[in-house]
Parts: sequence; structure tokens; C-alpha cells
Amino acid sequence: ADVDPGSLRTPIVAVLGHVDHGKTSLLDKIRGSAVSEGEAGAITQHIGATAVPLDTVSSMAGDLVMADDFDLPGLLFIDTPGHHSFSTLRARGGALADIAVLVVDVNDGFQPQTEEALDILRRTGTPFVVAANKVDTTPGWNPKPDSPVKQTYDAQSDRARQRLDENLYEIIGQLSDAGFSADLYWRVQNFQGNIGVVPVSAMTGEGVPDLLAVLMGLSQRYMKNEMEIDLGGPGKGTVLEVKDEKGFGATLDVVLYDGTVTEGDRIVVGGVEGPIVTEVRALLRPRALSEIRTEQEFERLDSVQAASGVKLAAPDLDDAMAGAPVRVVRGRPLEDVIEEVEAELSEIEVETAEQGVVVKADTLGSLEAMANALQEAEIPILRAEVGDIAPRDVAVASTANEAENRVILGFNVDVLPDAERELDRQDVRLFNHDVIYQLVEDYEEFVEERQR
Ligand code: GTP
Ligand code: MG
Repeated sequence: ADVDPGSLRTPIVAVLGHVDHGKTSLLDKIRGSAVSEGEAGAITQHIGATAVPLDTVSSMAGDLVMADDFDLPGLLFIDTPGHHSFSTLRARGGALADIAVLVVDVNDGFQPQTEEALDILRRTGTPFVVAANKVDTTPGWNPKPDSPVKQTYDAQSDRARQRLDENLYEIIGQLSDAGFSADLYWRVQNFQGNIGVVPVSAMTGEGVPDLLAVLMGLSQRYMKNEMEIDLGGPGKGTVLEVKDEKGFGATLDVVLYDGTVTEGDRIVVGGVEGPIVTEVRALLRPRALSEIRTEQEFERLDSVQAASGVKLAAPDLDDAMAGAPVRVVRGRPLEDVIEEVEAELSEIEVETAEQGVVVKADTLGSLEAMANALQEAEIPILRAEVGDIAPRDVAVASTANEAENRVILGFNVDVLPDAERELDRQDVRLFNHDVIYQLVEDYEEFVEERQR
């Protein structure tokens, strides 16, 4: 390795896919294998992220990853919970993730959230691989636990292999329909123009070595320049979630993708009413599982370096928005940093019309994805905001002349009790869903029915 690994940050890998297709199981398998390899201590459980150091990747991937061939410090995986859109993971007008794993159940193939994830990967230009998961469920499958996929694939009966092939080619066809040229990963020569499909099982670990190898290869080959950052510089991150925590009040779960954040740092965070300026009181990371039972849930850190997931406690965070930027001020004029945050927030500002629907979404990223989908479907937006559905939203929607516009489209949000009452009183239709496509479809159906 010709570059000092200390100067490169860990690539951020988003794990996405439809509900129940096995995202968390896949990460569990990686964590679990690390434990059985005697590397348990090396894996750190972050807030919303899991860091796997290079040595661990290398020992799990066997011959497929030689640590000496890589300069990167490892991989930081971000799991995206089922109902949570990948669009939360947003930074600098693109994807927060450097690369992604799109998990697809080999039997189920493409599902709505698979399509949604693909849309966002396309829009943000994020390189990705497809993990065709649950190969062990192929009828007649004879598992070879934790082995590279080519070994287990070649060892199957013709019948089992044919059945798997049918499913794999179905997925490859679906990727192609979506505009991505794809093939089984061992046939892919150029990962820049082609998507590799890696057959895996989160249950038996088959193919997991290959998946890790492809991810390391992708990061190393195409991302290296982006990984050369000033790790000591002022931290930059994205809010994954705003959560109330006992003893701390509102806290932020943040993925830090650049620089360092230190206790006492002054920070600027995107909030509902504009940038929030506050000071870091505590940096928290979950303790290992065994410690949680006996001690406090969190360990306090003095300082955290990119890339990592961290919980950040500070005053005045109630209005902070998921998906919003976080910036450490350190050594720069506060005004400049506020302007930076404002600029990033305004990138996401949705184009609105005089007449249109009201849109509410759980995060800035999902709001942006919603706005894009609605624009494509030529559905005008009157107002779009992050947050639960409040009486004010019902009031705004109720002023529209056309029934088509007396509508609220909610993505992954709750309806506040007062708003519920208003909805009953007013002639306003609410569509609330956790799949963007579904929302757009439901709304279009409603419009069509009215025109009949
Ligand atoms: P959400 O977070 O809800 O979106 O789901 P997920 O994508 O994280 O899926 P999860 O890992 O929770 O797995 C869903 C179910 O599929 C669980 O019952 C798993 O045990 C099962 N499962 C996941 N991977 C495999 C696999 O490779 N083989 C088999 N047989 N079952 C699997
Ligand atoms: Mg999950």
C-alpha cells in the first residue's frame, strides 16, 4: 500500500432494498462471522452504522480480499430500516453513501422499494452491487456455509442451479428494464458500466466473502480520491434521525462523512425554521451488547472522526430535521457556516405552484424524492414540508378550489390528533404511505375516478 491508511476515510456503504429482503440479516451475518473469526472486538456498532475494519473484511473474505492490496481502512455499513426510505441518506446534493448494496430476495425479485432505491441510486449516481439474497431457499439447495459463491454454485445439482439461474436472470432482466446493464458479478469486467449481481445467503453466509470483495474492489478502484480528506478538519455530517433520549432531551443520530466533531464544538444544524446554532454537550456511541445489560447504554466519546455514526446531544435540537446537514464551525466565521447550511437546505427546496397538493415527508431526503416523483407525474405541489401532518396542513389543503388539490400526500409521517379531527371536519383527502410509488399511484387513481 503506497498511501498511509490513516489519511483515507472509511467508505460509507448503504444497505438498501425492499422490506424483509434481508438487509439486516446480511449485516448480522457479517457481524456474526466476525465474531466467529475472533474479530468481535474489531467491529464497532455505531449509531445506525457498523464499522468493519479491513483486517476483518480480509479474514472473512479469505482469498478474495488480500489486505495488502487495499489502502482503505475498511467499510462502514449503514442499514436502512424497511419503512425508511434510502432517501434519508442524503448529503451535499447527492447520496451520503459512497457505494450501496441493493438487497433483492431471489424469489421475490423486484418490489416497490427495490424500484424506489434504484431510482435514487440512478439520480445520485451512486455505484452499487446487487446482493441476490436467500439463495439457500432454492429447492434442492445443498449449502456450503460461508463459502465463496462460485464454489457453492458449482457444487449444486444441475436442477438446483437451473432454478437459481432462472431467478437470477429474472433479476438481471429487471435491472436491464430499469436501464442498468447487469450480469453475475464474476462475469463483469468493468464495474463502472455494469452492475454486478452477487448471489448470497444471509442465513448460510454463502457469497458473503464475494460481496465483501466486490465492495472493497469498488471502493478502492472508484472512490479513492474522494476518501482522501482532511480527517482533522471541522466535521460534516447528515442527520439520520432526531430522537428523544432519557437524560439528554432531543438528540441527533448523525453519520459523519468528513472531518472530526469534538465535545464542546459549536455546530450548525438544519432545522424546520432554518439553521440551528448550538454546542455539542455529549458524543455518544452504543456500548457492546454485553455491556448494555449491566451498564449504561451509551459510552461517551471526546471526539469522533469520519466516517462514523454517532449520537450527538446538544440543546435546542427539537426542530432539527432528519436528512439535514450538520456542520462543525471550528475556526471559521459562524456566518459562513450558517450560509453553507442554508445553501444545502435550499438545494432541496421544492418547486411549488399556486395550486396543488400538500406534501409532508419524514426527512429532507424523502421530501426531495417525493417532489421528484410528483414532478415526473406532473402533479403540482402547493406546499412541501418535513414533519407530521398538523392541523395547519389540513387548513392549507382545504382552501383549494379543486377537489384534486384538497389533498395531503404523506410519506412515512404520523397524523397529529388535532389534524385527525380537522380531517374529519374538512373535505380534505389524505394519502399516507411508506412507498412513494404507491402514493403517486393512489393519488392518480383518485383523480381518474373523479374524472369518470
Ligand atoms: P426490514 O428491515 O424490515 O426492511 O427487513 P430486512 O430487509 O432487514 O430483512 P431481515 O434481515 O429482517 O429479514 C427478513 C426475514 O428474512 C427474516 O425472517 C430473516 O430470517 C429472513 N432471511 C433473511 N435473509 C435470509 C436468507 O438468506 N435465507 C433465508 N432462508 N432467510 C433469510
Ligand atoms: Mg432490517
